[in-house]
Amino acid sequence: MATGLREHLVTYFEEHHKLLEAGALRLLLGAPQPLVVSQELLERAGSGTPFVTEAMVAEVLDDLRPLAAVPVVTPVLAVEAADGADAARTAAADFHVVVEGFPRSMAPGPPIAGYSALFLARFRALQKMLRTRSTLSNLRTIRDGRPPEGTGSVIGMVREVRETSRQHHRIVTLDDETGTLEVLVLKESAAAGMPFLPDETLGVRLRYGADPDRLPTVVAVERPDVPLGRVAARAARPRQAVFLSDLHVGSKAFLGPAWERLVAFLRGEGPAPDLARAVDFVVIAGDLVDGIGIYPHQERDLAIGDVVEQYVELGRRLAQLPDRLTIVALPGNHDAVCPAEPQPALPANLAHELPANVRLLANPSTFSLAGVTVTAYHGRGFDDLIPALPGASYGRPTEVMRRMLQMRHLAPIYGSRTPLAPVTRDGLIVDPVPEILVTGHLHTYGVDRYRGTLLLNASTWQDETEYQRMRNITAVPAHAAIVDLATLGVVTLDCSGSTPTVRAEAA
Ligand SMILES: [Fe+2]
Ligand SMILES: [Fe+2]
Repeated sequence: MATGLREHLVTYFEEHHKLLEAGALRLLLGAPQPLVVSQELLERAGSGTPFVTEAMVAEVLDDLRPLAAVPVVTPVLAVEAADGADAARTAAADFHVVVEGFPRSMAPGPPIAGYSALFLARFRALQKMLRTRSTLSNLRTIRDGRPPEGTGSVIGMVREVRETSRQHHRIVTLDDETGTLEVLVLKESAAAGMPFLPDETLGVRLRYGADPDRLPTVVAVERPDVPLGRVAARAARPRQAVFLSDLHVGSKAFLGPAWERLVAFLRGEGPAPDLARAVDFVVIAGDLVDGIGIYPHQERDLAIGDVVEQYVELGRRLAQLPDRLTIVALPGNHDAVCPAEPQPALPANLAHELPANVRLLANPSTFSLAGVTVTAYHGRGFDDLIPALPGASYGRPTEVMRRMLQMRHLAPIYGSRTPLAPVTRDGLIVDPVPEILVTGHLHTYGVDRYRGTLLLNASTWQDETEYQRMRNITAVPAHAAIVDLATLGVVTLDCSGSTPTVRAEAA
């Protein structure tokens, strides 16, 4: 039985102030996509009862059955570890999907109604995380207006941030389900320490002055964030997972020789053969192929001009890796699925071109590797977050990833470069908090930690292209992050030189 998942579910419900009865837990552990079922349970239970019963789970499972019947990914619960020839079976069994970002149903009605449903779903999910925070005393809705005590708190989504012309204080416009409120953030105050991003959801404690015509002042800001003191799950024994991204197979700039070095390493023919033999999982965070028509005149950069042929070549490259590995792959903005996020997994006709040990998931997705929860997101949201965050840069991806965790959202900004899909559940919310958050898209490499979560930006296997040089992006290609799932320690395999090297990253 998957102890990781069990603990995970119990903690998840605890964080949402619910007690999971034993029968309910048993049913959930056997359910496909247990976290989707859990989210639905929380939704239905509301604040009515602190208990989640077996009957409640059974009811949700019944209602979700048509959804679970979609034959894309069959989650498999972990079984007891076996050795030797059973290694492949064990690796496959120790992989299961926790929650896929793409809910497989679009919001009904016209797109504009879909987007308002999406934003409402997002607001409610993040509001739920904030509601019980002690900093947000005397919590009220915006419609409740000015509290008689002179101080109160509001949870809202940031609609707009502007600077006052003379004093350079900021005025932040917040929306909740009941109305709109402008609040003042004084430039020297602690509340001004972290910039406010459009469409992020946060709580503010406010002080109202004597003059009812003046804006309330923000005294404290509370973001959804990762709970402090969280104990991250670990695999019961040393198991290694390799994190890659942005293969861009089909591009003239695909780094074939570097890829061959990675293949040799994983076959135990490079440095650290013992480490290589302990690898059970490979995760690829999108941009599997280079695609076609992704940017102007891309055809000049393509070695393979047909997108299906690019996936055939990807299949050939992945088949070079030992077949005991479970390879988890999600799409990116170069892949042949709808670019709006969340993106569905690659369709069956393309999956067909890939080896049988490849598990295709939506972008983003959260899954468990030997009890360790991983959220993988390709990272288109970086393109909006980096320009919006003062001091952020393409070369320092993990700083932005911290911010994603603080917001508990991977791509909050709507209407800019990241297209969002009008789906019924916001798949870009970070819930549960993973032990590992992996992204790609930036073609750089970063390893960092934030409140117990390992942050990885997983490099690329494409050389710098003219297009990237134009945008002033310096690639850090051919790096693989090898993570010990029992310790979350990271070893970097650098295949960019003619001789691959390994180095341990600081804990
Ligand atoms: Fe890419
Ligand atoms: Fe990308």
